[in-house]
Amino acid sequence: MDQKRSSFTGKIGFVLAAAGSAVGLGNIWRFPYLAAKYGGGIFLLVYIILAVTFGFTLMAAEIAIGRKTGLSAIGAFKQLDKRFTFVGYLAAIIPAIILPYYSVIGGWVMKYIAGFATGQAHVMAGDKYFSEYLKIIGEPIIWFLLFIGLTAVIVMLGVEKGIEKVSKVMMPVLVVLIFGVAVYTIVAMPGAWEGVVYYITPDFSKFSIMTVVAAMGQLFYSMSLAMGIMITFGSYMKKDISIEKSIHQIELFDTGVAFLAGLMIIPAVFAFSGGNEDALGTGPTLMFVTLPKVFDSMPAGNIIGAVFFVMVFFAALTSSISLMETVVSILQDKLKMKRIPACLAVLGFSLAMGLITCLGFNVFKDIKPLGLDDLLTFFDFIANNILMPVTAFFTAILVGFVLKPQYLIDELDIGGAFKAKRLFKVMIKYIAPIFIVAILVSSVLDAFDIVKM
Ligand code: PHE
Repeated sequence: MDQKRSSFTGKIGFVLAAAGSAVGLGNIWRFPYLAAKYGGGIFLLVYIILAVTFGFTLMAAEIAIGRKTGLSAIGAFKQLDKRFTFVGYLAAIIPAIILPYYSVIGGWVMKYIAGFATGQAHVMAGDKYFSEYLKIIGEPIIWFLLFIGLTAVIVMLGVEKGIEKVSKVMMPVLVVLIFGVAVYTIVAMPGAWEGVVYYITPDFSKFSIMTVVAAMGQLFYSMSLAMGIMITFGSYMKKDISIEKSIHQIELFDTGVAFLAGLMIIPAVFAFSGGNEDALGTGPTLMFVTLPKVFDSMPAGNIIGAVFFVMVFFAALTSSISLMETVVSILQDKLKMKRIPACLAVLGFSLAMGLITCLGFNVFKDIKPLGLDDLLTFFDFIANNILMPVTAFFTAILVGFVLKPQYLIDELDIGGAFKAKRLFKVMIKYIAPIFIVAILVSSVLDAFDIVKM
């Protein structure tokens, strides 16, 4: 912690690095299935409102904490107020929970690259293909091992900068491809237009508390909030950069990619299922079931499919690297571990957890903790819907009542006047804490089936 901190060369460097961490499977895989499941347009609307108010405030607070203290989460909370040190630890556990199952999905992506590259689009487009694939005990584990192994090797060698460079080139191409596939689906497939309507017109009768619960969990996940990552990023940020402007750019980028991914996947679900509710509620497997059908129906679908999944792979890899890097640096700082042993420890833990996650689809398929469909969904729920709101809650209390908002506003004002002062104060003091508690209570009640929301 006491080594000299390097800093981002300039504004673009910061925004790109933060956006690189933010844009990943969360945008391309997670957002569309939640939007499909939780009412389409109404989910989109709730998500956007939350992003520009709640997400903005929390991201501003985290980056400002990082830049002000020059420390990452555990050290930062400790320095700000000893009693809040535990929040830093809480934040630190989250990436460790996400990394294993993130890598399981990364493995699915690799499997799909191989499938399309070997001309299997037609086979993969079969209705039961993916659900049958998950039942296999060996293969998904092997792809998972490859993905997490690759992540670990990159983190151990410290060559993530190289990967990030590649991915910065890939990212714009990915956006263009997503857009292209969306347009193709909408224009070429009968029934897709209803999907567009479902996706962009809010139907208030589909609104429930669970829409908000899901949207908020997604917001944390997608913007890499409430897990100390933005604090670390802030600690590397130079003083002459406007935090506010940077956040606007990150948000626009992150939400833009998520929006387009939804536009690519949801109309396709309609086209192939006739708007059948069951197809909309498929959950985590949605992208892997729907997209092969689209690619299979396209000319040169195998090539487009392979290229598409390669891009997704790079987006996922940069995110998994930043997840692992976060956990590794915490072990290095706190346990004074050397880099390689720290990497190996994180790898070992992730292997065990990832293995359990893979087996959750076959051997352990009857274990449905909290009534959730599988272990992957369970880990995802614990991280996004329980631990992240708790972390965000204490962050808001610390900033709103212990330090007082002005303390961070002073920091936010450096590098350009902070315009959203009022919003920041009201959000962080009152709305955010009350709102988070409400959300937390409802998601727990729902999970334990006490009240169905
Ligand atoms: N935000 C990333 C995504 O949307 C996930 C992630 C979270 C990555 C935290 C790094 C750190 O996929």
